[in-house]
Amino acid sequence: MGFIRLFKHHKFLILFCGFIYSFVWFTNKIFEQPSKFDKTVTSYHASISIKNINFIFEYLSKLQINLLLIDPFLLDYLFIHRLPFRKFQKRIITFGITNDSIHIINVLSSEKKFSVTISRSFNNASIDHIFIEYNQQLIHLAILHEKKSYFLIRPTTVHLSIDINLSYGDTARVIELTEKEFIKDQLPFYYPNNVFHFLWLYKRSEFLECNRTLANKMKNQFHIYQNRSQINLVILPMRNINYILNKLEKNYWLAGGTLLGNNLCF
Ligand SMILES: *[C@@H]1O[C@H](CO)[C@@H](O)[C@H](O)[C@H]1NC(C)=O
Ligand SMILES: *[C@@H]1O[C@H](CO)[C@@H](O)[C@H](O)[C@H]1NC(C)=O
Ligand SMILES: *[C@@H]1O[C@H](CO)[C@@H](O)[C@H](O)[C@H]1NC(C)=O
Ligand SMILES: *[C@@H]1O[C@H](CO)[C@@H](O)[C@H](O)[C@H]1NC(C)=O
Ligand SMILES: *[C@@H]1O[C@H](CO)[C@@H](O)[C@H](O)[C@H]1NC(C)=O
Repeated sequence: MGFIRLFKHHKFLILFCGFIYSFVWFTNKIFEQPSKFDKTVTSYHASISIKNINFIFEYLSKLQINLLLIDPFLLDYLFIHRLPFRKFQKRIITFGITNDSIHIINVLSSEKKFSVTISRSFNNASIDHIFIEYNQQLIHLAILHEKKSYFLIRPTTVHLSIDINLSYGDTARVIELTEKEFIKDQLPFYYPNNVFHFLWLYKRSEFLECNRTLANKMKNQFHIYQNRSQINLVILPMRNINYILNKLEKNYWLAGGTLLGNNLCF
């Protein structure tokens, strides 16, 4: 009785309250979907976290090797976008190491904590890449093979179990910076002094191997032979031009007259 009177007197208020309740309930339901999605995304990323990266770093620091950060994504993230390292979330980070650090694979391979994958050249003559996996996080160490005026990173010969695009090892690439152009501060690795320039070079870093079979064939067929001093007459100015144009960030290409692809492998 009392309730009916109450309803009659306040029916608009009660209907209004009912409406607000349904509205709030409905809105909650709508927003529940994305929040569930967020949770799954977070739990997927939870294992790909700075904790795992730091765990591997801590281990590597004991081995006393110099890590050079060459990963274009992380360089862009840290130094172009200036985002904090502790928030970085990517499955793989690539560092360059020189071949005098290769001995670490003996220690790494016997370490049960990590799953280590090693990529060797086809004739087993060299070790080219080391992949260290810990809790879904990968640290990729690309071996920098020192040549006369650059470092060569060879393509990988292994297939990783996870689907990932490599920034190095996808094809042969060169790094033209000298190690002196890498610096280090509080971070546990060295990084290029001029990141912007390094990223510009990265986009042009693919290395085309000279075809020695073809070169030798042409040399024998046409009796073209050049001694070292003749070759240097061409190579040294070209090396300087290459150096200057790269410094100025100019795109350029060879148009002809070099006999490249005909008979010379420098
Ligand atoms: C490192 O590379 C240099 C130049 O290619 C080579 O002479 C040297 O034997 C290599 N060292 C190791 C440990 O592989
Ligand atoms: C390279 O080494 C691996 C393992 O050490 C071996 O299975 C393979 O047959 C070797 N390949 C060549 C071309 O020597
Ligand atoms: C790898 O790169 C290709 C081509 O850019 C792209 O289609 C593909 O989604 C990438 N895969 C991953 C796992 O990022
Ligand atoms: C190198 O040249 C030889 C002879 O012309 C050719 O048969 C071979 O396919 C070439 N190799 C590559 C990788 O282009
Ligand atoms: C290289 O060849 C040129 C031309 O044939 C000759 O003048 C020069 O003495 C040679 N140099 C060496 C180091 O053999």
